[in-house]
Amino acid sequence: MVARPADVNVFVAGGSGFVGRALCHVLAARGHDVTAASRSPDRAALPDDVATVALDVTDDGVGGAVEGHDVVANLVALPAHVRPARSHETVHAGGTRRLVAAAERTGVERFVQVSALGVAADIDTAYFRAKRRAERAVRAAAPESVVYRPSVVFGDGCAFVPFLERAVPPVVLPLPAGAGRLHPMWVGDLAPMLADGVVGPGHTGKTYRLGGPEVLTFAETVRRVAGDRVVVPVPGAVAAAGAAVADAVPGVPVGRDQHRALRHDNVAAPNDVSAFGVAVDDLLTLEAYVDGR
Ligand SMILES: NC(=O)c1ccc[n+]([C@@H]2O[C@H](COP(=O)([O-])OP(=O)(O)OC[C@H]3O[C@@H](n4cnc5c(N)ncnc54)[C@H](OP(=O)(O)O)[C@@H]3O)[C@@H](O)[C@H]2O)c1
Repeated sequence: MVARPADVNVFVAGGSGFVGRALCHVLAARGHDVTAASRSPDRAALPDDVATVALDVTDDGVGGAVEGHDVVANLVALPAHVRPARSHETVHAGGTRRLVAAAERTGVERFVQVSALGVAADIDTAYFRAKRRAERAVRAAAPESVVYRPSVVFGDGCAFVPFLERAVPPVVLPLPAGAGRLHPMWVGDLAPMLADGVVGPGHTGKTYRLGGPEVLTFAETVRRVAGDRVVVPVPGAVAAAGAAVADAVPGVPVGRDQHRALRHDNVAAPNDVSAFGVAVDDLLTLEAYVDGR
């Protein structure tokens, strides 16, 4: 029997995270039964009618947790700057393999994978290597899965905007010359598109590249968030040396991987938002979001 949309029972792995919470809110508002899972889900950040379950995707027991659900959406993530590199392999690639295998074994009807735009650009960082392997594992195990590749996502509770506000010096930001462009997207625009892929018709087997209304250089992105900064390009070798030093400092959220990632474009071309009946001009700009806070 095919479930009617209102009956869909969705397991959101990583449902307590920044994007996962937004997805849970949209799904619950649309009348679905939602379970948010993570190692320590924060009930207070979720609607009352969303159930929570403690789950580590690197442990056994994933199968028991997903069993009985119609759809599994995977939004488990480690922040890109987390070191060592093997933790990305364990959580992003290994955790995804476990989840999709469990979903297949227990008869889940649809798997939804939130990947990242950089997987297609062949960016050689621990985060993107693991995200690439995760996406391949999903396609191999469950070819009808729905895969999303968003560019950087902003909104209340994101890491990106506060990082730019905190991390850049008050006046001058040294930036590697030749840094790539970003395509920032508001979480309030992304979440309904994810919810459509979770329950809507016509999305199975698809991969969606998603970005916001503007393609921005990193310098332009910084100015949208913290307008008074002067962005000074520094030669690649100098930036690389700085990143190597930062790599050795525990807790510093930039390093060689971030330096490598920054040099690539993170742009959805084409931007697949039209697959969700949305026009690019209807999306919220980063500037409008920052001004409206
Ligand atoms: N935010 C962006 O700009 C952006 C851009 C492109 C793609 N994405 C993708 O979008 C998805 C969601 O990202 P996000 O920004 O929402 O990340 P996030 O805020 O860091 O949330 C990550 C979630 O994963 C959970 N988690 C981490 N390790 C886990 C484990 N071992 N087992 C189970 N749960 C675990 C976390 O909860 P606990 O700590 O309680 O376990 C949290 O719920 C990810 O696939 C990410 O790669 C994000």
